Amino acid sequence: MAVGILEVLLVNAKGLRNTDFLGKTDPYVIIKYKSQERQSSVARGQGSNPKWDEKVRFKVEYPGQGGDYKVTLRIMDHDNFSADDFLGEAEIYVKDLLALGVENGTAELKPLKYRVVGENATYFGEIQVGVTFTLKADDNNQEEYGGWRESNF
Ligand SMILES: *[C@@H]1O[C@H](CO)[C@@H](O)[C@H](O)[C@H]1NC(C)=O
Ligand SMILES: *[C@@H]1O[C@H](CO)[C@@H](O)[C@H](O)[C@H]1NC(C)=O
Ligand SMILES: *[C@@H]1O[C@H](CO)[C@@H](O)[C@H](O)[C@H]1NC(C)=O
Repeated sequence: MAVGILEVLLVNAKGLRNTDFLGKTDPYVIIKYKSQERQSSVARGQGSNPKWDEKVRFKVEYPGQGGDYKVTLRIMDHDNFSADDFLGEAEIYVKDLLALGVENGTAELKPLKYRVVGENATYFGEIQVGVTFTLKADDNNQEEYGGWRESNF
């Protein structure tokens, strides 16, 4: 089994819906890969066209458990005084990327625009994201992952 780092570059989004009646939304993104979850910063007051230019990283095994090789991007509006609103969601399938990365040492999906959809698959804008996978060369050096490997047997 190969181990590597999946890096997600969150560039920006366009045409998101506005759920705030006064002023502009404060979008941020919850990024998930299997059971791991990361969160972007809040693009305060950036409304429908937020920019993040941020990277998040996941430790990934290939082939690991569960066949669902996808990154889920859940876009939320941060509200100070009420529950955050759901703005839409996008998915990126990375199975081919991981397979290629394991073979080649590294593989990249250059930043592309992905559809953002609502609960009923309605189009709610687009998000631009790049993904890279880098294989961990030294497979003997598993100590640094600590307890993380223990959940996979
Ligand atoms: C929400 O809180 C942050 C800091 O906690 C502040 O910068 C921002 O202006 C607040 N937004 C609103 C709409 O009150
Ligand atoms: C294979 O890896 C090299 C770097 O080692 C990289 O430059 C190249 O883009 C990779 N090939 C593919 C198809 O991703
Ligand atoms: C889809 O959901 C949105 C709100 O989430 C709503 O405005 C829209 O009318 C719905 N579209 C359909 C076809 O049900």
